[in-house]
Amino acid sequence: MADFKIAPSILSADFARLGEEVENVLAAGADIVHFDVMDNHYVPNLTIGPMVCKALRDYGVTAPIDAHLMVKPVDRMIGEFIKAGASYITFHPEASEHIDRSLQMIRDGGCQSGLVFNPATPLHYLDHVMDKVDMILLMSVNPGFGGQKFIPSTLDKLRLVRERIDASGRDIRLEVDGGVGIGNIAEIAAAGADTFVAGSAIFNTDDYAATIAQMRAELAK
Ligand code: DX5
Ligand code: ZN
Repeated sequence: MADFKIAPSILSADFARLGEEVENVLAAGADIVHFDVMDNHYVPNLTIGPMVCKALRDYGVTAPIDAHLMVKPVDRMIGEFIKAGASYITFHPEASEHIDRSLQMIRDGGCQSGLVFNPATPLHYLDHVMDKVDMILLMSVNPGFGGQKFIPSTLDKLRLVRERIDASGRDIRLEVDGGVGIGNIAEIAAAGADTFVAGSAIFNTDDYAATIAQMRAELAK
């Protein structure tokens, strides 16, 4: 069985109690903290930046932090998130002028690198950088907001990326983000994903541990 990871998106957490929320969701069995960075320019929303990432580290969070940069330009924020203690840093190829350089900056900073594909972004951006990515993130909603509906065509795209990863023989995580929940996680895993971002499906429930356990039960089927 694949090494499945659950990555709650803190976009749907209570920002007024963020440290506690992150602590609780990790204690409930989450593997990775998915950290959505939005700039009101590349996407129509504004969220949190490197200071908040650093604050979580200072608070004592040791779990991997997966910084999903929905910002344009990206390079300056890459540098800031490296300093702020991010573990993974992913960005959208169309938001970078020099994709290879941005990926290299992430690795040079000691972090794991990744490219993010919006539902309609073509996969050709991967053609010459398979040796430079540690993670490929497929958006299953248009980025900007939590609580949207999973776009079904993502399943075919996941299958294509899974084939490319397997053919490359490289250790690259395949993450999916948007509209993931107990009801569809098994189908998404069957299409090839191994890392599951879920925001509203976890934080909008009362018992994070029960929700994560149900997700894992679906993955074990
Ligand atoms: C959307 C963000 C997602 C979002 C997912 O732009 O990248 O990480 O928080 O939220 P849900 O799981 O509620 O669709
Ligand atoms: Zn995200």
